[in-house]
Amino acid sequence: MSVIKIRDNIYAVGAQDPDVRIFHGYKTPFGTTYNTYLVQDGGKNILIDNVKAAFTEEYIRNIEEIIPLEKIDLIIQNHIEPDHSGSLPAIAARIPHAPIYCTAGAQKGIAAYYGPGFNCHVVKPGETLCTGNYTFRFFPAPMVHWPDSMLTYLEEEKILFSNDAFGQHVCLDCTYDDELGLERLMERAVNYYGNIILPFGMQVQKILGQVEPLKIDMICPSHGVILRAHIADVVYAYDRWCHDQADENRVVIVYDTMWGGTEKMANEIAEEHREQGQDVRVYCLRDVHYSEVMGDLVEAKSIFIGASTLNRNMMPTVAAFITYMKGLWPKKRTGMAFGSYGWSGESIGQAEEIMQSLGWEMLPQRKMVYMGL
Ligand code: FEO
Repeated sequence: MSVIKIRDNIYAVGAQDPDVRIFHGYKTPFGTTYNTYLVQDGGKNILIDNVKAAFTEEYIRNIEEIIPLEKIDLIIQNHIEPDHSGSLPAIAARIPHAPIYCTAGAQKGIAAYYGPGFNCHVVKPGETLCTGNYTFRFFPAPMVHWPDSMLTYLEEEKILFSNDAFGQHVCLDCTYDDELGLERLMERAVNYYGNIILPFGMQVQKILGQVEPLKIDMICPSHGVILRAHIADVVYAYDRWCHDQADENRVVIVYDTMWGGTEKMANEIAEEHREQGQDVRVYCLRDVHYSEVMGDLVEAKSIFIGASTLNRNMMPTVAAFITYMKGLWPKKRTGMAFGSYGWSGESIGQAEEIMQSLGWEMLPQRKMVYMGL
């Protein structure tokens, strides 16, 4: 990525990763970005976040398009997952004078990942840092996305540097949300929320409560496009998603099939619900990666899972999907297990048991013997 000036004194200096197609198990058909920002306040230079280790050289080149790296006075490290901290050791080694503003959890994580000796300054909730004309306010946000996460608000510019929150895995030829377009922005945002943020609804509620009173002109996340035109759309959506307010009229059916019986059932169930006027989305796990279903699972009240029986188990594709979904834990849903079998049929009960373990209201399971056409 070349450097992009987003305000008179503020630059996006991070890296693009357009070719990454699997991001820790999550399919990223449009790649991603590791956004970081350089803020200049008079003679002070503040670096916000880092990039994945493989992009360190590119990152340093970007910074040095503006100033020599040694001119950086301090680093704000909002989160230490390796996609945001991989370049930190190389950067910090060249500017040991620069304190790293971070949470206590981040300080611990930096030492665990990269060893001792980092010049960390642990921030307290609500702590501010005045750099001259600018005031940075820190909002620790545990579990949005990791225990160490925090958001940073630049008061005078009304910019929220939100790190993982409000991000999207997308790397297209655009910097801002209005360039991406609202429809695609929301599709990428819900996909991201479903695969990254979904388990942490209560923590999202807490951080929304803290940032909603702020005047925000721009949200600069660490992935995807910067929000300036559609902030309200994304924040409103997060408010719904973190309260598990799913669409009562939407049904998602996810299945795989051996001899076509479970597929036949999936299509029949879909037709029944379409006849009732419901918005039904059907995913066959032969054709889609399990992570591509998660955006729809954030929005759908009803989730029906079709599991053929293979050697007394679910098919591996369905087992993988259910394991993944269980970890992300959509709540307050209505579930149903269905499937066909040749001679035993255990998979339907196995799928049902996992859905029950998530606290979902369950419809009666449907199963049938089917030996193909
Ligand atoms: Fe983008 Fe939690 O890392």
